[in-house]
Amino acid sequence: MSETILITGASGLLGRALVARFAAAGFQVLAQYHRHPGAPAAGVRWLAGDFSSPRSTTAFLRAQRRSLAQCAHVVHNYGPIAEKATVDVTGTDLLAAFQAQLQPALDITRFLLRAAPLRSVLFVAFEDCGRIRPFKKILGYAMAKNALLLLGRSLAAVHPQVRFSVFSPPSLAGAALLPPAARPVAPARVAERIFRIMRRCRSGCHYRFQATAGKNPPRRNTHG
Ligand SMILES: NC(=O)c1ccc[n+]([C@@H]2O[C@H](COP(=O)([O-])OP(=O)(O)OC[C@H]3O[C@@H](n4cnc5c(N)ncnc54)[C@H](OP(=O)(O)O)[C@@H]3O)[C@@H](O)[C@H]2O)c1
Repeated sequence: MSETILITGASGLLGRALVARFAAAGFQVLAQYHRHPGAPAAGVRWLAGDFSSPRSTTAFLRAQRRSLAQCAHVVHNYGPIAEKATVDVTGTDLLAAFQAQLQPALDITRFLLRAAPLRSVLFVAFEDCGRIRPFKKILGYAMAKNALLLLGRSLAAVHPQVRFSVFSPPSLAGAALLPPAARPVAPARVAERIFRIMRRCRSGCHYRFQATAGKNPPRRNTHG
């Protein structure tokens, strides 16, 4: 029987590529979207969900309880970026960033640990995850994405039966916001890396994408 995977943010740039890749491999894909469901496709079920508050995330989990009960894998791909000059950042901005990046990821994971035969979880981070450096415009986003790394490592330690990974993608070709020195990579290539990681990865590892993959072996960092 084919395995079921939940992909959040599935109607976005990377999400669409992930849906296509996992569906092509024969997975039953539960594809969460907010306002723009993707095109119907074999093996793909589009599920509406709003993760803007803990209450709306809970409403999604309740409404989709039956479908999610089959879920063996999840890619937490939802993770909106918000730009604000660091000199203007407030505590409220930091809380909003943590709400967006962490609350749905943790609450959905906890739900699936209880209600589904969960075997692997992958958090989508960003290219500077695990690096301590100053940020001029995306401080809240960077802090919260780094917290995903700690979350993944810590959940891996207390749930050894589930494989937890944190994957740091490069800038995506077609993204609205790109850093000045970005070397964007096609979402389909990034989705392929995530697909392979979910097939092979060991618990608690942090993978960094390398655009030159093929010439050099991919680097794998472990952050303790
Ligand atoms: N873009 C990059 O260059 C880049 C670089 C590094 C890391 N990343 C990370 O990669 C992941 C995917 O990024 P992306 O650029 O592909 O995303 P994206 O294209 O902006 O997609 C956003 C997704 O989130 C959904 N969404 C929006 N508001 C929502 C809400 N309130 N509740 C639930 N879902 C909502 C959207 O649904 P609808 O479209 O249906 O509204 C869509 O599926 C993110 O975690 C991001 O931080 C991106």
